[in-house]
Amino acid sequence: MPRKYVAGNWKMNLLKEEAEQLVRTLSENYTANPDVECIVCPPFPWLTQTKALLGETGIQLGAQNCAATEKGAFTGEVSAQMLASAGVRYVILGHSERRALFGEQGAVLLEKTKRVLEAGLTPIFCIGETLEERNAGKLEQVISHQLQEVLGHLSLPEVLNIVLAYEPVWAIGTGVTASPEQAEEVHTFIHGWLTKTFGSEASNVSILYGGSVTAENASGLFARNHIDGGLIGGASLKPADFLKIVNAW
Ligand code: 13P
Repeated sequence: MPRKYVAGNWKMNLLKEEAEQLVRTLSENYTANPDVECIVCPPFPWLTQTKALLGETGIQLGAQNCAATEKGAFTGEVSAQMLASAGVRYVILGHSERRALFGEQGAVLLEKTKRVLEAGLTPIFCIGETLEERNAGKLEQVISHQLQEVLGHLSLPEVLNIVLAYEPVWAIGTGVTASPEQAEEVHTFIHGWLTKTFGSEASNVSILYGGSVTAENASGLFARNHIDGGLIGGASLKPADFLKIVNAW
């Protein structure tokens, strides 16, 4: 069975004290549930303070990006090894904002994924189509291409250490969520791609949904086949909403 996850992607939001306040409120109100891994992904400068504040709550720490190279003269970059030594367990890769705004595509995402796996961390690898691609009937083509250009170059044991996130670009930050039916359809396609490419063991790879998930719509999405949790943007900045989503099963 795939593990269940709810991960909060704070994106480029919150100053130091605001980040501290959010983590304090989460930590005070969170009850650990062995069935659901709860993750917060703050901006880089707040990783170590977040780690310290999370303490023994069981909430895990994720980062939003990392370098494609291991170390050295790469001014401004942050390596997967550095993240690991800061207590990070998960790294979001392939987010549509990094694809669209920073030109990150297959080759660089493959390198980043390898660095994250080498550092003993879990990539949360994001895929998803634009509205134009969906309307042009290219949904499955786009999804299989994004999977193939990264996962297609990895082994089954590596793939079993990855968490996938389906985030339709048209649903991110727009308030327009994919319906549970639309999400299930794509998750089922991704699940089929995994088992066709890697065999039945790949059924254990978790596939999260992301895109305007709220405290209100989460349980309808999580009730669907092959939807193993959520990657949450806006609602992860509101602790009460985020915790409702964590408890939405
Ligand atoms: P929203 O939940 O704000 O739509 O963002 C989704 C997302 O991009 C999470 O990575």
